[in-house]
Parts: sequence; structure tokens; C-alpha cells
Amino acid sequence: MSNQYVIVPQNYRSDSMVSISPADKRYFEQAQAKQKSPPQQMMFGGYSPSPSLQKTLSTQLSEQSIDEFGRMQKDSDTELVVQYILQLRDTEKREQALSELSKKRESFPHLAPLLWHSVGTIAIFLQEIAVVYQHLQPAQLTPAQSSRICSVLGLLQCLALHVQTRSCFLRAHIPLFLYPFLNTSNKSKAFENLRVTSLGVIGALVKGDDPEAINFLMQTEIIPLCLRIMKKGQELSRTVATFIVQKILLDDNGLNYICQTPERFFAVSQVLQTMIDDLHQSQKDDQRLLRHIIRCYLRLSENQKAGEVLKKYLPQVLKDPTQSFIKDEVVKKWHNNLLQNLSIK
Ligand code: TRP
Repeated sequence: MSNQYVIVPQNYRSDSMVSISPADKRYFEQAQAKQKSPPQQMMFGGYSPSPSLQKTLSTQLSEQSIDEFGRMQKDSDTELVVQYILQLRDTEKREQALSELSKKRESFPHLAPLLWHSVGTIAIFLQEIAVVYQHLQPAQLTPAQSSRICSVLGLLQCLALHVQTRSCFLRAHIPLFLYPFLNTSNKSKAFENLRVTSLGVIGALVKGDDPEAINFLMQTEIIPLCLRIMKKGQELSRTVATFIVQKILLDDNGLNYICQTPERFFAVSQVLQTMIDDLHQSQKDDQRLLRHIIRCYLRLSENQKAGEVLKKYLPQVLKDPTQSFIKDEVVKKWHNNLLQNLSIK
């Protein structure tokens, strides 16, 4: 008998540490049931028919059978994903499996719980990551190594985004494994991609406005790492790093933490100022970055102490209420509110 569903834990219980939605629970139960009745799942030989065949079928079949067909297609997708997960265990096939799985990230909503609950998968990811550390210093990362590790990071991002795996992901302290990648300054594409993709994982964690995630990141000192990238990084990594700091600031504990000491406040406001000066001097029209910077300033201005200090330290270009390099209407409004909070307007 095929062993393709061995990755579904046999003793899986919905009331264990992890909270699982009814949809995922059903999904696991179906997968387990299939283990007992393999013939049905083999109807399409495990793969979905070609697009032209799909089209023919969908014009000829009744609505009910189209539904049925859609379901079988999903099953064949599951089978493929499960096969790739099993192939991770084979070092010869691992690279290909990583790349295929990371392509399935958006189209296969159950990927995160499957990855997390399958035996050994996370250990394989961590091993892949640890192998790369030795190439960070001195900088010897090849484009191929970088791209392989970016596939792993893409899968970690999927775990960070999914509500049912995010908390496990944090409790296992997995973000810490990415900090060495954020702590690099090599300008090559291999390193920049690694930084941007690692920031993407952290960005996925803060996206959900989950205080547990924000708290974990603050405690483990993500802020100085982000500030460094904001100061010296390239366009994309800079933008994602600023987004992360913005999300931390928008959290009440995050704002208090940053405004707790003058050193922290000044470290943040100086980097924001450097970025504004850069944008202004280079005449670069980077509205996305500008949006995050203004949102950070506005949030800082909501803290009484920080607001008083900002009155003095806000970059000159931002003190002008009529300045025109902000184009987005929402950002213009934030800028207005900022000036009002600081009683500059
Ligand atoms: N350990 C430092 C602190 O707690 C971490 C830090 C450095 C920091 N720069 C920062 C924290 C800027 C917040 C903002 O102060």
C-alpha cells in the first residue's frame, strides 16, 4: 500500500496544543480516510488532467460533476504536495522539492499545517538554514545557494502567515534562525535576496497585528537589525524593514518600548530622518517607502514625550505643510495629522 499519507500524524487530535479550524480538521480526517481507501484517489493517476481536457470536460459535464471534478483536482494537488514533502527527505530530490513546494505557497491553503505537522520537515528546513551560515562570513554565498535558501524561507513565510501555525512558529523561536541573514551587509544580489526574503518572513509575522508576534520580535531585538537595514539597505529591503518597524510602533507595547528610553527613540528617529533626507536629495519618487516613514512619524507623535522631542527633530522638509512630494491622499492626511499633533500647523 502506498505510504503517501504517512505524514499525517496518526494520533492527530484537534484539542492538542495547536488550535485547528474545523476546515483543517475535516481536511486531515479526509486525508486519513484516504489512506484507508486508495483506489478513489488514483482516479486521475494522482495528477490533474491537461487544461484542454479540463475545458472539454467542464463544457460537457453537469454542474454536479464539475464540482466533483474540482474536488478530485484538489485531491490530486494534495497528493502532489504530499509527495514533494516526502521528497524533502531525499537529499538528491530536496532542492527540486523545495522549489516546487514554495511555488504552491499561495495556491494551496493547507500547506502550512501540513508542513508543520509532518515529521521531520521543520528539522530539514533548519538544517538547510544552518548549512548556509558558514558562507555568510567571509561572504561566499553563491546565487544557487541563495535561491535554495530563499525557497526554504518562502515556506517559513507560509508558516508565519497561517493563523494555525504562527504561534507554534514563534514558540519554537524559528525567527531567530533568520537573524544572521539580516545581520549581513554584503551588497551582492545573493545577499540582498536573502535579506529581503528573511524580512518577508518577519513581515508576515507582524502583518497579522498579533501582539504575541510583536512581543517576541521586540524581545529578541529585531529593531536594531531593521534599523541597520533601513539606514544602509537597498530599496526593497529598506522598505520591508521600515514596514516592520511601523507595525511594531502601531502596537501599544511597541510604541511604549521604543519611547521608553531616549536612546531607543533617537535611534529610530535618526534613521527615519536619514531616509527622508536620502529620498529628498536623490529626488527618488519612492511613495511606498515614504508612506511607511510618515506612518512611523505619525505614530511616534502620539506618544507625549516623543511628540515633544519630535517637534524639534522633525526633518525640515516635513515641517512644510505645503510640500508636494507626498502624492498619496492617505499619506497627505497622515502628514497633516502629524503636523497637528506636533502643533506645527
Ligand atoms: N538592547 C537595545 C535596547 O534595548 C536594543 C536596541 C538598540 C533598540 N537600538 C534600539 C531598541 C532602538 C529599540 C530601538 O535599547
